[in-house]
Amino acid sequence: MTMTDQPLRFIRRGQPVALHDVPPDRTLLEVLREDLGCTGTKEGCGEGDCGACTVVLGEQRGGKLHYSAVNSCIRLAHSVDGMALWTVEDLAEDPLIRPASPAPSAEKTITLHPAQEAMVQCHGSQCGFCTPGFVMSLFGMYQNHVCQGQPITRELAQEELSGNLCRCTGYRPILDAAQQMAALPAMAVDELQLLSQLAQLQPPAVAGTAYLAPTTLPALLAARAEHPGAQVVAGCTDV
Ligand code: FES
Ligand code: FES
Repeated sequence: MTMTDQPLRFIRRGQPVALHDVPPDRTLLEVLREDLGCTGTKEGCGEGDCGACTVVLGEQRGGKLHYSAVNSCIRLAHSVDGMALWTVEDLAEDPLIRPASPAPSAEKTITLHPAQEAMVQCHGSQCGFCTPGFVMSLFGMYQNHVCQGQPITRELAQEELSGNLCRCTGYRPILDAAQQMAALPAMAVDELQLLSQLAQLQPPAVAGTAYLAPTTLPALLAARAEHPGAQVVAGCTDV
């Protein structure tokens, strides 16, 4: 496998990030933990089953931001090019995540995101190994539902947390936390600012690179014809 001179670009903590010389077969979890030293995101199974490695991606669709909680252990790093990325370490560090109603006091306080605060209040963590993954799935749920004014039903919480396993707390407190988030002081991503930053990321170069991500069928067929020996991945579940 050759290195690629195509930088991997994404928005993290309100800033553009460009990583060079990322091999095309490197996973997002390897980049986070081994290259960037961000070990808050955990590795459990390493094969997409446990959810310990969950991070959230944000991408522009139809002029709006769409959030997805994904398993970073089976997500090729280059596949997040041009997106926004949040790990569990970013919720308190991202200047684009702010209280919807700032506290009147000028005193600086540490404010947990509702996804974290609800886990604390509902006792959703014991050993804590699964917790970063659950918190990120909750964060994705918060952005996609609570911030849209949609209620989180028990059924929705069960469905959206079905990719996260916990082996010591049990699921009731974690499901309670999912439903508790909407009752906590609101936090919001500055989506206008983030959309503007995403728009400024240059489209990826297509020549001389080792990782191609065509977004249309004609582009895929052209790439396939040009690189008949290339390994094709879809959804990255076959990594
Ligand atoms: Fe288990 Fe990624 S480490 S799903
Ligand atoms: Fe231990 Fe979930 S708190 S595995």
